[in-house]
Amino acid sequence: MRSPKKTAEYEKEPPTDDSFTVFLTGNELGALKPCGCSGGQLGGLDRRPAVLNAVPEDKRLIIDTGSFVNGDSEQDLIKYHIIIQALQLLDYDLVSLSEQDIETGRNLGLLEGIESTFNMISSYGTSEMNIPAKFTKEFSLKGRTVLSTVAAFDPESTPVDQIEELFALPSGMPSLNILILSKSDPETIKSITNTAQFVDCVVCPSESDEPAVIGNPNGRPLAFTVGRFGRYVCGLKVTAPPRVGQPLRLAFKAFPVEEDLPKDESLVKLYGDYQQIVKDRNLLEKHPRFALPNGLEYTGSKSCKPCHGYEYETWSNNAHAKAFSTLEQVNSQFDPECVVCHVIGLDYESGFISQQKTGHLINVGCENCHGSGSEHILTAGATELTEPKSTCLDCHTPEQSGDYAGNEDAFMEKIKHWREPNAAGNVK
Ligand code: HEC
Ligand code: HEC
Ligand code: HEC
Ligand code: HEC
Repeated sequence: MRSPKKTAEYEKEPPTDDSFTVFLTGNELGALKPCGCSGGQLGGLDRRPAVLNAVPEDKRLIIDTGSFVNGDSEQDLIKYHIIIQALQLLDYDLVSLSEQDIETGRNLGLLEGIESTFNMISSYGTSEMNIPAKFTKEFSLKGRTVLSTVAAFDPESTPVDQIEELFALPSGMPSLNILILSKSDPETIKSITNTAQFVDCVVCPSESDEPAVIGNPNGRPLAFTVGRFGRYVCGLKVTAPPRVGQPLRLAFKAFPVEEDLPKDESLVKLYGDYQQIVKDRNLLEKHPRFALPNGLEYTGSKSCKPCHGYEYETWSNNAHAKAFSTLEQVNSQFDPECVVCHVIGLDYESGFISQQKTGHLINVGCENCHGSGSEHILTAGATELTEPKSTCLDCHTPEQSGDYAGNEDAFMEKIKHWREPNAAGNVK
């Protein structure tokens, strides 16, 4: 449910004649949607319209700075395709493609058709792909035309003094010049500040999830990063100056994509399509698997029951024992990126493959914490298992379990399924 405060925050802006907004995102890195493992997660392509649509279409320019996915696995390629479709549904004007985006898109044969849906620029536009380095769009502010130019620039391959060629020379027409850098360091920004004073904004590659202004928020150029994983949308509000001839006024703001923002139906559906493709392509079965050391194998939680009945019953009643059905409820039970922490041994040869083939390995079971049980069972308990305490953090990461850090004891208390060493009936 949306709290009143947030409704106000992204309230629709009344149409004005003296401003427009440039929205910037980037570095999705495959994050279509937060996993939902714990509360308060930011992001989700399906919630992005709540931020973007607060500004009327003719008063906004929506730009993505690229880096859609993290690698080139089959799942990354599926995500790439989904992200392209999402940017289309989100009404993006422009995407600045990274070197990796171009290579992946080309291998997928995806780049040819894209131009019809949004514009592309890149500092890596090869002659054969013919992707331009800049894009322009006109806005009207107080009846005067403002020419907005967005250019992609790679400071490693091109000297900074060539930036000028990317932007139209000042002709008396007010202009907004945005430079998207593929690499940046303080020296590069300094030399842009010194040699390219017509640049209003420099968008730098992100090293952290949150967007950040680099240096003076009132300085020119205004330098900032857009963050990662779609957790925020950056908004640059451009307002006409009080008097003709003065520079445009710029105000930067990062909008968190909070979990109580309303979701857009078409993007919710797109995520459903993604889950269906992941299922149809059978990614779970194709997941790479390694052999366990010393010929050990997973045997499943039930195999412990005959000798550890008490522990088994207790475990059955805690959250771990329903971790797989939790995924089924959100239709992610075929997604290896989710299943890996919600079953036993996805990364290993004798581990989980699918509910049909390895139904005995669903849920977070005994062997997630105690290690594979084959040898222990063969020797009727004579072989020691691994020390379990250190395993919690493998899954209870800050991202997946926001409350875990600082509450380790309370979490441990909740999963207590062992008896005191001297209790009657203890196998020990
Ligand atoms: C055939 C009976 C049997 C089965 C099946 C069995 N255990 Fe045990 N287990 C024992 C016995 C006996 C001990 C006590 C050994 C000792 O203290 O020397 C033991 C001890 C343990 C201990 C405490 C000591 C240690 O090694 O860390 C854990 C934990 C444990 N078992 C977990 C499991 C798990 C997990 C499974 C299923 C994969 C399992 N056991 C299956 C008989 C069994
Ligand atoms: C293999 C991954 C994995 C490991 C290892 C793991 N957990 Fe979990 N844990 C989960 C998952 C997944 C859930 C969510 C289950 C559900 O609700 O469907 C969970 C849920 C819990 C919960 C319930 C949280 C709540 O708010 O109700 C507690 C408590 C917990 N884990 C404690 C621990 C402790 C303590 C350890 C280490 C001894 C541990 N877990 C190790 C994956 C893991
Ligand atoms: C790194 C391990 C890990 C991965 C990967 C993971 N989960 Fe979880 N998941 C957990 C843990 C741990 C919990 C329990 C968190 C807690 O209660 O603090 C959990 C809990 C959940 C819950 C229950 C939340 C609740 O309110 O009870 C859902 C739903 C869930 N995960 C879905 C997913 C989905 C969907 C994905 C993939 C997009 C995923 N998980 C990937 C570890 C993981
Ligand atoms: C989330 C991780 C986790 C899961 C799942 C889990 N355990 Fe444990 N188990 C622990 C921890 C932690 C301890 C406490 C170890 C300690 O205090 O040294 C423990 C203790 C035990 C002990 C007592 C060990 C001793 O030395 O006295 C037994 C036996 C045991 N577990 C068996 C099981 C069985 C059987 C299952 C599945 C039905 C299971 N556990 C599931 C983490 C887990």
